[in-house]
Amino acid sequence: MKLRIAIAADHGGFDLKQELIQRLSEVVDIVDMGAESFDSSDDYPDLAIPAARAVASGEVQRAVVICGSGVGASVVCNKVKGVRAGLCHDTYSAHQGVEHDDMNTLCLGARVIGVELATEIVAAFLMAQFSGEERHLRRLEKLNQLEE
Ligand code: RB5
Repeated sequence: MKLRIAIAADHGGFDLKQELIQRLSEVVDIVDMGAESFDSSDDYPDLAIPAARAVASGEVQRAVVICGSGVGASVVCNKVKGVRAGLCHDTYSAHQGVEHDDMNTLCLGARVIGVELATEIVAAFLMAQFSGEERHLRRLEKLNQLEE
């Protein structure tokens, strides 16, 4: 069964979102949570929060959230309980964040990296699996306690 992911972007990430949807739609089920069209006055929380909530609720398994730098996206996504978002502009962090930290949301800055690197980063994120190792579970439990 295909992985089901959400993708969202504000105006800073809109073009990259559209390109990633084209490139990934054959290999994963993508729920496009907007923006539906380029709007230079949209606000990243309005796009990022629904995608983060979709991960938290289990509607999707993972999300990719894009803004200009990726910073705003990561800050807001991590406000949603159950979301572990990381801003990754390299492939190592993109898979290691899943393997060690059970990262379930990848944030990207479309003004920082190009589409080819972004595609490789998303692929590394989507193919990675959480290790389940005791030390990683122990650390996650400490995060969970913080959320209670
Ligand atoms: C939008 O211009 C920009 O501020 C936003 O996409 C993002 O970079 C915020 O972190």
